Amino acid sequence: MNTLLAPSLLAGDHAALNDSVRQAADAGASWLHLDIMDGHFVPNLTFGPQTLAALRPRFPELFFDTHLMLDEPHRYIEPFVKAGANLVSIHIEPDYDHAGTLRRIRDLGAQNGIVLNPATPPEAVEHLLGLVDLVLVMTVQPGFGGQSFRHDCLPKIARLHQWRAERGLGYRIEVDGGVDLATAPLCRAAGADTLVAGTAFFKAADRAAFLAAVTA
Ligand code: DX5
Ligand code: ZN
Repeated sequence: MNTLLAPSLLAGDHAALNDSVRQAADAGASWLHLDIMDGHFVPNLTFGPQTLAALRPRFPELFFDTHLMLDEPHRYIEPFVKAGANLVSIHIEPDYDHAGTLRRIRDLGAQNGIVLNPATPPEAVEHLLGLVDLVLVMTVQPGFGGQSFRHDCLPKIARLHQWRAERGLGYRIEVDGGVDLATAPLCRAAGADTLVAGTAFFKAADRAAFLAAVTA
């Protein structure tokens, strides 16, 4: 599978989001990672469907990879797909109808993803693997950018990669948190094909070179 970088807008300039998305597109990104937080599932708040809807017509070519860090994601699927999300990923940890919500995302015309926190074992999502387009492995505790990569999550990536091959499945394996020039190769060696980078991408002196280096 081709390797993709999804720059995370969380690390962009929130007073000039349009400029930050432009920087991602100009660097050669085809995906943009959008972090949605509710102040309950994670102790932080970001932005909502209105922000996606405003960016959507300005960047019609970008794939909006939308990561919902919400206690009740099933309540917000339709607004985010209508706002222009191409993929909506939802966490396994809260208690709601995961399978039904994943199906609903597809029924509305978007791709879906299931997300695991660092402490969540891969077995927690095993029963859903046939239903998903993407599995997102958090390599930091979600809520904030700029945290250190958790190496203890690498075996989880390898397990999901092994299951994908053994079962003939086609989901992408994405990593999110602390991905930089040093940790991206570790993620790729473990089997990740989709890399989220916020701080390392936006702080890079040459963003196009950063993108090329982590995806080459
Ligand atoms: C954290 C978010 C990440 C965040 C990653 O809760 O899910 O997408 O933007 O930021 P960095 O790359 O700075 O660790
Ligand atoms: Zn994220």
